[in-house]
Amino acid sequence: MTDSQRKILVTSALPYANGSIHLGHLLEHIQTDIWTRFQRMRGHQCYSVCADDAHGTPVMLKAQELGITPEEMVAQTRAEHHQDLLEFGVSYDNYYVTHSEENRELCELIYNRLDEAGYIVKRTISQLFDPEKQMFLPDRFVQGTCPKCGAEDQNGDSCDVCSATYSPVEMKNPRSVVSGATPVLKDSEHYFFDLPQFSDMLQEWMNSGAIQTEMANKLQEWFEDGLQQWDISRDAPYFGFEIPGAPGKYFYVWVDAPVGYMASFKNFCDNNDVSFDDYWGKDSTAELYHFIGKDITYFHSLFWPAMLEGAGFRKPTGVNVHGFITVNGAKMSKSKGTFIKGRTYLEHLNPEYLRYYYASKLNDSVTDIDLSFDDFVLKVNSDLVGKVVNIASRCASFITKRFDGKLSANVIEPELVAEFQNASEGIAQAFEKRQYNKAIREIMALADKANQFIDANAPWVSIKDDSKQQFTHEVCSLGINLFRILSVYLKPVLPELTKGAEEFFNDELSWDSAQSVLSDHAINKFKPLMQRVDMDKVNAVVEASKEDLKISNDKAAKDPDSELAKDPIGETIEFADFAKVDLRVALIAKAEHVEGAEKLLRLELDLGGETKQVFAGIKSAYAPEDLQGKLTLMVANLAPRKMRFGISEGMVLAAGPGGKDLWVMEPHTGAKPGMKVK
Ligand code: 2FM
Ligand code: ZN
Repeated sequence: MTDSQRKILVTSALPYANGSIHLGHLLEHIQTDIWTRFQRMRGHQCYSVCADDAHGTPVMLKAQELGITPEEMVAQTRAEHHQDLLEFGVSYDNYYVTHSEENRELCELIYNRLDEAGYIVKRTISQLFDPEKQMFLPDRFVQGTCPKCGAEDQNGDSCDVCSATYSPVEMKNPRSVVSGATPVLKDSEHYFFDLPQFSDMLQEWMNSGAIQTEMANKLQEWFEDGLQQWDISRDAPYFGFEIPGAPGKYFYVWVDAPVGYMASFKNFCDNNDVSFDDYWGKDSTAELYHFIGKDITYFHSLFWPAMLEGAGFRKPTGVNVHGFITVNGAKMSKSKGTFIKGRTYLEHLNPEYLRYYYASKLNDSVTDIDLSFDDFVLKVNSDLVGKVVNIASRCASFITKRFDGKLSANVIEPELVAEFQNASEGIAQAFEKRQYNKAIREIMALADKANQFIDANAPWVSIKDDSKQQFTHEVCSLGINLFRILSVYLKPVLPELTKGAEEFFNDELSWDSAQSVLSDHAINKFKPLMQRVDMDKVNAVVEASKEDLKISNDKAAKDPDSELAKDPIGETIEFADFAKVDLRVALIAKAEHVEGAEKLLRLELDLGGETKQVFAGIKSAYAPEDLQGKLTLMVANLAPRKMRFGISEGMVLAAGPGGKDLWVMEPHTGAKPGMKVK
């Protein structure tokens, strides 16, 4: 490595806690994750954090609609979001939530410092108020007739028909979307952040390369019009943090959301003995990058750096802005089935297809990115399956069957290896600059060369000739070494595929691994690393997305409350059926890994004399040592089931969406093994 170890912290925009992760979010989280994984492979200290954006009126109203507290809703959504992201291979060091103590403390600290330094001003403003709901209405919660063209049922800030923008107070016949009542104008004192005081600093920061030139140019318009003071308070009722010394006034969600980046990291630091100040202190030498979509640029490039500066923290090194996603050339559409949730995708398709496809399209500009399904299928099949994985599958079985599973000692074409190795810095620079499409093009050009080499030497022909055994051995060994170098370059993009490749090579890959060649080295049996993607599966995702829409429409039509059933309760059973279940307190006397099992742990459960063996699918959430000695609850009279690894004689109870977020039920400490649960 030429440069010394860097300290880096990266973030992705915090998803709102009132909707599901969809393909648009994933573009950003995958972009961030590829960059993070790349930096880690290069040996840098690169942390990444994210969180759910919990506060604000929409979250508050949605929770009311569901009949639960916002805290409950946010906890559930956060767990779902995190699980979705994990399954797409997105590896945050911490996925937190903005409704946290750390965030409250940091928001108060920042606010108090800004106030002491004279950056907070108060002023009374007049806004639309819902007299029935007794709340002020954000623009999007007002509808009415367009003041310009007279079109009915337009939103409170802009007209879909004539594209006019206006203030909701200008609308004719306004009504509250929340209650249907006619809003009235009402005065209230608001708190403002005095942004204009930071004008020079912001200009300088923006032109220091902290943001893409195209965005800096766009932001220039704000300076030309003169920066405005920013309204940072909202009146109760509001789900958020109360402003210190201002009862009934809350921080606007866009104040505490970016502070949520710090809070998520703070929570991580406290649990992992990492210095928070090294990353956020005024004199920090660490790099800080925010990955965001272009719609939220001005929050991140005006308000946020100014808040940090005013409160005595460091500013971001860079704000990395990306464009929007379109699907088949158009905006994601619910009715066309192209508004696709991450979860729906995961039910049908391998997440690495999407990681690869996005990587092949992403660059450092803010232009929109199109996910075309035809192109998606073509690229995955021809590049990944047809080119990359094919290199290994063409060579591996000969090595295993004919050469004792060992790569040759000699390297047959050192110039070709050198060419692959020399590409390292160019590809690294492309990743570094977020020109992933360029990196992928270079990697695929190398993959073509590897295939040409194999074609030209046709090991499947020479293998039949006894006098050419050494030649065949060396050709196949080189093929596998070329595949290994490509795996290094693809590792930031395809963590799962490369994990399989690493098992095959018996070797863990860092970026520097590309500079070495495995010779006289034992490899493992090759397992297919990726299946072709089938257009039928893509169609199934689209159909299921239309279905999602249909279900929510039907539910809404029949019973507006039915959305409550986020995790619907299944069919009912009779009490007598329930009474058959023998639930017992059990002591986890022993817990251990099961060789070859991805998800299972083997547990020995002591029921106060009798011991049962249970295979439980909880490995994603627990290490055996976490469980040993704990009490849990088990279904003790489940008929024994023969599993691949042995007989399972019961079931332990656990709750949660899955993955890391799974909790084995623990009875109160007074309970004793063998007690019946009533
Ligand atoms: O636009 C959004 O989805 C916001 N929830 C992003 C917040 S990013 C940061 F500031 F917290
Ligand atoms: Zn209009």
